[in-house]
Amino acid sequence: MRKNIVAGNWKMNKTLQEGIILARDLQMALSGKAVNCEVIICPPFIHLASIAAVAGTSIVKIGAQNNADKISGAYTGEVSASMVASTGAQYVILGHSERRAYYGETNAILKEKVKMALVNKLIPIFCIGEILTEREAGKQNKVVETQIRESLFELPVKEFGKIVLAYEPVWAIGTGKTASSAQAQEMHAFIRETIACKYGTVIAEETSILYGGSCNANNAKELFSNPDVDGGLIGGASLSVDTFLPIIEAF
Ligand code: PGA
Repeated sequence: MRKNIVAGNWKMNKTLQEGIILARDLQMALSGKAVNCEVIICPPFIHLASIAAVAGTSIVKIGAQNNADKISGAYTGEVSASMVASTGAQYVILGHSERRAYYGETNAILKEKVKMALVNKLIPIFCIGEILTEREAGKQNKVVETQIRESLFELPVKEFGKIVLAYEPVWAIGTGKTASSAQAQEMHAFIRETIACKYGTVIAEETSILYGGSCNANNAKELFSNPDVDGGLIGGASLSVDTFLPIIEAF
């Protein structure tokens, strides 16, 4: 059975002190509750170790937002996957559209980042998704298929089986404009079929595929009720317990 997951992507928000308070409050809000999904928070790198110390438990898992495409060495300002793993983080978001758009991350670079994550036993939450003009031109399936194929389809089946995918239509991120429930389901089903063609139906059925892009307390339940939507990658609404908790409780 594939996992349902709700992951918070804090992006470049929260000081260390604010982050520790948010993580602790979330942990407290969830303890003793029946939680029907895996809950992950992805703070900035610099907060990972401190937040793992206060909230890296069985209730709340910790993830990074990136890792380097190299093992180690003279790469000023970069953070390696082994460094991320050494903080207690278990997940890493890779291929987020903001990384692709603002920091030039290509499918080829992301292929290396995924390898580094997996070698260090981090679970990649690998983001894919089309921009508005691509959707308007009806090219969304082709774009998403290419992103998956070029970055992930050289992985052996055992390694691919560890990956979580996150479909995030770029036009829905931070815009308040969500993909409709039908649009999300249609794309998620296409992604699962793409995986099945390459790795077989067993792996495809076991892969968690999250939706991301203006997911919030009002739309989470409907989005998550789709058979191929296994949770969400949440940006803005993950920055306070009040807005994040109802999304977790949508399961
Ligand atoms: P959003 O961001 O929920 O603020 O739209 C989602 C994401 O970028 O992961």
